[in-house]
Amino acid sequence: MEIIIQPDSFESSYLAARIIVRLVRAKPQAVLGFATGQSPLQLYQFLIKMHKNEGLDFSQVTAFNLDEYVGLDPSHPASYHSYMRDNLFRQINIRKDRVNIPDGLASDIPASCHTYEDRIHASGGIDIQILGIGTDGHIGFNEPSSSLASRTRIKTLTAQTRRDNAALFSGEAAVPHHVITMGLGTIMDCRMCLLLAFGKKKALAIAQAVEGPVTAMVPASILQMHPHAICMIDEEAASGLQRAFYYRWVYDNKPDWQKY
Ligand code: F6R
Repeated sequence: MEIIIQPDSFESSYLAARIIVRLVRAKPQAVLGFATGQSPLQLYQFLIKMHKNEGLDFSQVTAFNLDEYVGLDPSHPASYHSYMRDNLFRQINIRKDRVNIPDGLASDIPASCHTYEDRIHASGGIDIQILGIGTDGHIGFNEPSSSLASRTRIKTLTAQTRRDNAALFSGEAAVPHHVITMGLGTIMDCRMCLLLAFGKKKALAIAQAVEGPVTAMVPASILQMHPHAICMIDEEAASGLQRAFYYRWVYDNKPDWQKY
């Protein structure tokens, strides 16, 4: 895993945006995997700016989102359909028929999850998957104890995640218990993973994911097995890392051809 520590979330998000912009310019039909939550918001702002000011073209891009709450209508303000529409999709020229978000209202959830996997496969696979990390170490909504080989399926949120996400709902009781999420195996199939984490509250999860053992109890730790995973974090999220000095040195001394 490559660990890039930047002074703040702005710098990290800018760097992540540069990687995505470079891909979309080189491969206009890129397949991008999106996450929701706080962590990618600045990155999405950069992508919107690049679209508006520099004509970055998303018309041939295909999007797959990581997850969605079960039982929430896409129009519900806390649904991930709403989040993506408001924070990115309606501000860029992505085509609606190229946007894929798990269907939280599916009557046959296992069939709908299979179809989602099939669609990812038919698209040629995800080029870059953007990820955040939960305070309990989840990626997507793969909570601790998730199978490291899991595919898109229904999961039950931990009490910790429901608490963390309560602000977007009218209190914790309103946070759904169930979600549909890409599995850890699905995420591992993506050609590149970009994990964004900012702030002190992510320090423990990042330390466990990056420097701890690979374990289903810290689902993000599976990224240690990914051939091209980049962990983009700010100083606060890096504060639990024992080898932060080394990661900084590696990044500052990259050969020119390897720079982003
Ligand atoms: C969201 C997702 C989650 C979040 C994680 C961090 O689509 O898959 O794994 O990335 O819960 O959320 P924030 O960024 O709000 O701290």
